[in-house]
Amino acid sequence: MATEIFDKINAIIEEIESARPAGLEELETFRIKYLGSKNVLKPLSGEIRNIPNERKKDFGLLINKAKQTAEQKYKALEFDLQTAEESQSAANLDLTAPGEPIELGARHPIALTMNRIINIFERIGFVVAEEREIEDDWHNFTAMNTPEDHPARDMQDTFYLKDSTTMLLRTHTSPVQARVMTRQQPPIRIIAPGRVYRNETISARSHCQFHQVEGLYVDENVSFADMKQTLLYFAREMFGPDVKIRLRPSFFPFTEPSAEMDVYLGTETEKDYRLTKGTGWLEILGCGMVDPQVLENCGIDPEKYTGFAFGMGIERQALRLYDIADIRAFFENDVRFLKQFTSVM
Ligand code: PHE
Repeated sequence: MATEIFDKINAIIEEIESARPAGLEELETFRIKYLGSKNVLKPLSGEIRNIPNERKKDFGLLINKAKQTAEQKYKALEFDLQTAEESQSAANLDLTAPGEPIELGARHPIALTMNRIINIFERIGFVVAEEREIEDDWHNFTAMNTPEDHPARDMQDTFYLKDSTTMLLRTHTSPVQARVMTRQQPPIRIIAPGRVYRNETISARSHCQFHQVEGLYVDENVSFADMKQTLLYFAREMFGPDVKIRLRPSFFPFTEPSAEMDVYLGTETEKDYRLTKGTGWLEILGCGMVDPQVLENCGIDPEKYTGFAFGMGIERQALRLYDIADIRAFFENDVRFLKQFTSVM
């Protein structure tokens, strides 16, 4: 009786070893038969009751051997059959068929404009600094000398995170100034491109999200004349060698004195007329000498160092560069719009 069962199991092992399923379907039948939940070895394992004690150990070993043989055989067969199917489908490939065209990607016009600006400043030694879009009010406002009761701190103008009075979406790239100055002593010469947020009504000319490039230069003896020359260089590189600039006195809590810079584009073309509201002048940035209080807030000695800073809007420059009429087009992600910008810069 016992010998009979041993023979049966040995027969199954042989069967497993010689199995040659023709395809993945037959392989599945193999799996069910030898490895499934109702496999042919199961009822035989139960027979251990009827095996004399001195042969029980050998019986267990044999059953295990059968199981392992089935598992190994299954893995080997699966690998062979899958490889065979793959090479079969490769053999069916028509190598003379024309290829699928690879579509060229396009860069977003905002990214293109920012890269152009970054490039111009990198040529005169500015390095890129990037920081977080979710800021705390210390870096966004307090360090930048913006008082508690300043209207920009109002919920009306600033997006605060839910249930928070201190965490917000940065309203400008100026907090990057504070982040850099608190970890690094002068000389500092950075530009900080990035996205900013303000709670504004969305229209053809303004949006609740937009982009800025911030600039900061702090060292010994940095003067207003240095700032003016740097910005003139930028304007010429960006808008052409004949462009004129003008600085109008302005106010920012973090610079003193402060100014806004316009570039003269003229009114010859219809788009320049429209963009400058008929004046020929396009306002592109705010700037000024870094307020000594800001240097102090960030741990830089205002007796020893001075600096200038500027922050420019990107959308308006991109509108002009690519002759786009509506700022909302930048944020709608319509591929028909985005596909048009194929420059790789
Ligand atoms: N942060 C200012 C703004 O968003 C721009 C600015 C930056 C002005 C740096 C002066 C110096 O309007």
